[in-house]
Amino acid sequence: MDAIRINGGVPLNGEIVIGGAKNAALPLMAASLLSDAPLTLVNMPELVDITTMGNLLRQHGVHISQEAFGAGRAAVEAGPTGRTTTLTADRLTSVTAPYDLVRRMRAGFFVLGPMLARMGEAKVSLPGGCAIGTRGVDLHLKALEEIGAKIEVKEGYVYASTRGRLKGAKVTFPMVTVGGTENLLMAATLAEGETIIENAAREPEIGNLADCLNAMGAKITGIGTGTLRVSGVPTLHGARVAVIPDRIETGTYAIAAAITRGRIVLKGTRYDLLESVFTALRQAGVSVEATENTITVAAPNGLSGVDAVTEPYPGFPTDMQAQWMALMATADGASMITETIFENRFMHVPELRRLGADVNVHGGSAIVRGRKDLTGAPVMATDLRASVSLVLAGLAAKGETLVNRVYHLDRGYERLEEKLGACGARIERISGA
Ligand code: EPZ
Repeated sequence: MDAIRINGGVPLNGEIVIGGAKNAALPLMAASLLSDAPLTLVNMPELVDITTMGNLLRQHGVHISQEAFGAGRAAVEAGPTGRTTTLTADRLTSVTAPYDLVRRMRAGFFVLGPMLARMGEAKVSLPGGCAIGTRGVDLHLKALEEIGAKIEVKEGYVYASTRGRLKGAKVTFPMVTVGGTENLLMAATLAEGETIIENAAREPEIGNLADCLNAMGAKITGIGTGTLRVSGVPTLHGARVAVIPDRIETGTYAIAAAITRGRIVLKGTRYDLLESVFTALRQAGVSVEATENTITVAAPNGLSGVDAVTEPYPGFPTDMQAQWMALMATADGASMITETIFENRFMHVPELRRLGADVNVHGGSAIVRGRKDLTGAPVMATDLRASVSLVLAGLAAKGETLVNRVYHLDRGYERLEEKLGACGARIERISGA
């Protein structure tokens, strides 16, 4: 298994180009199941999760072609790093999403809604638990039932079917769920009549999906609000759609600048996708300057502790909580970090402590007492964002940090060592460590 070795303590200085958002690209890929015409996605990130989703869709019969970066027109449209992927679901050969693929990546569950709406049936493995919490799918299933799906769960699989088209209805989510909103939204596009989704998630990735579905001929209004209205249509057509920039990658590299007290210019991204984190950075004393095309993040030596509470968008994202904790471990004074989305998302705490961080967890909150110096140590990655928080802490720590089990990082960060290395980080991947 690969590891990442970091010799920390170097202020980073340079430019980083942000890729397309993993969590936008995954449901967009699943949306290809809704039509027999090609869906072309521009600015696709190159990540293990994207490959896994591609493999899942291929086994359903979706044809996938890539135009690599550097190839003429595609290179211009693909944006600075991404590539262009065309998915064509003209002949679906299987309605089953097997355990082996869905277990590896929860986003595999996104095939349920579109497959059911287009084919009238779907058999999708339950995703199972995951490191950050139990992460049920009950809300996805209940929502689909409310628009007419018949659902049975047996032998680890969800069997969903519908006689004729799904039937539009008013669905109110009892709590905000990103994946649940996405699954229902995709299914509702092909339902008969109107579906009203109340307490819908407002994450920018949902806006990207809704815009894509509209480009395919769907009729969705209320995009960006907590109420989505979908007027069902009998069929959807092809479209060409750009994946939005990855706001969590953006925030992670903003913190790389702050934690090393350096200066990084972020390109190919958008300030409005991550205002809550930029506001917190400013409160901590970090300078954040945004122009139309760049965000420059620069940090002085002393930073102050700032509390953070994770919330659905536009609140502080749970996917930035671990990185924020790493930064706060180096600030002057204390801060309280409260996780409200997942029940078990503090697994980075014992590992950050190995680097010298002073953190105490009390239920869903962690008290972080900042200290002057972190020191390098071997640590173990547990999930994607926990892993990157250890890389960030390692960049700030004096001496050598070895982050083991980095396959988690490859699921969500494209060419991480290269991007950080170009800003002066002493970071390398050790194969098979
Ligand atoms: C999405 O997960 C993201 N994944 C996560 O990204 C992100 O942390 C999360 O949203 C919150 O922003 C993708 O987009 C692929 P939820 P999702 O449904 O959709 C509970 C990353 O690091 N719940 O909004 O699974 C659930 O357990 C990650 O990139 C139910 O109880 O999140 C959680 O406590 C990991 N029943 C809460 O709701 C359900 O049926 C919010 O989860 C569904 C969810």
